[in-house]
Amino acid sequence: ELIPYIFGIQTLAERIKQMFNLTEVIIVPGDSQDDYLAKRDLGRAAARFLKRNLYLGCTVAVTGGSTLAEMVTAFGDGINARDVLVVPARGGLGEEMEQQAGVIAARIAGAIGAQYRLLHIPDNLEESTVEILKNDVHIKTVVQAIKNSDILLHGIGSAMEMANRRGLASEEIDYLQEKRAIGEALRYYFDKKGKIVYEVPGIGLEFPDLQNIGIIAAVAGGKNKADAIKAVLSHQHESVLITDEGAARKIIEEN
Ligand code: BG6
Repeated sequence: ELIPYIFGIQTLAERIKQMFNLTEVIIVPGDSQDDYLAKRDLGRAAARFLKRNLYLGCTVAVTGGSTLAEMVTAFGDGINARDVLVVPARGGLGEEMEQQAGVIAARIAGAIGAQYRLLHIPDNLEESTVEILKNDVHIKTVVQAIKNSDILLHGIGSAMEMANRRGLASEEIDYLQEKRAIGEALRYYFDKKGKIVYEVPGIGLEFPDLQNIGIIAAVAGGKNKADAIKAVLSHQHESVLITDEGAARKIIEEN
């Protein structure tokens, strides 16, 4: 379909907003699938969004990933958000260091002069280990802070890509395929309709907690992620999408 190409970015944003019942859609030009600068712009847009929404005493939770990692250097000088707390949304040391949620949380806190708390917990733990860790007092206090977040910024990935990146077992991958998982966010896997079909046990934010978070913004772009973004947004828990033109056009095109 060619018609969508005559739409400007504003019109695209408006259509996506209506499609998924969002309060705000921000679209940066370009396509971060093949243009690194577009991904950098996504990070900038997310940083601007966060600056605009910060308030005294608020807690901000962030996930990991290469997209969120672009926020770290995008804040500029002169912000002193001393009363803000930044936390990782879920524990996880499995990713490359620069892309770990904890590292990103600490670096964002550094950039805006905020406080941070970390969860030093590896990914892919056995469920029994997760249960034991959840009862540790130190972990409990951090988890409580995470669950009380006011703003959540999270990435979205294609289900199979994230399953491989996270080193899921081949039975788990088969299961995801059987359930037709398309998108992933916060270690939850979603099918086309936005139904959660699988969850990797972890420590930190869980789906029921999202109800109490005032602002939930997904930050993801690239036309390769369009289906994943649609799958995750169809679950209807986000209020904001920060994306790029490549993903946005594909989302509209296929509708
Ligand atoms: C992860 C998030 O760290 O980043 C995932 O926890 C998300 O939920 C992923 O899917 C996206 O990664 P990237 O590198 O594509 O931004």
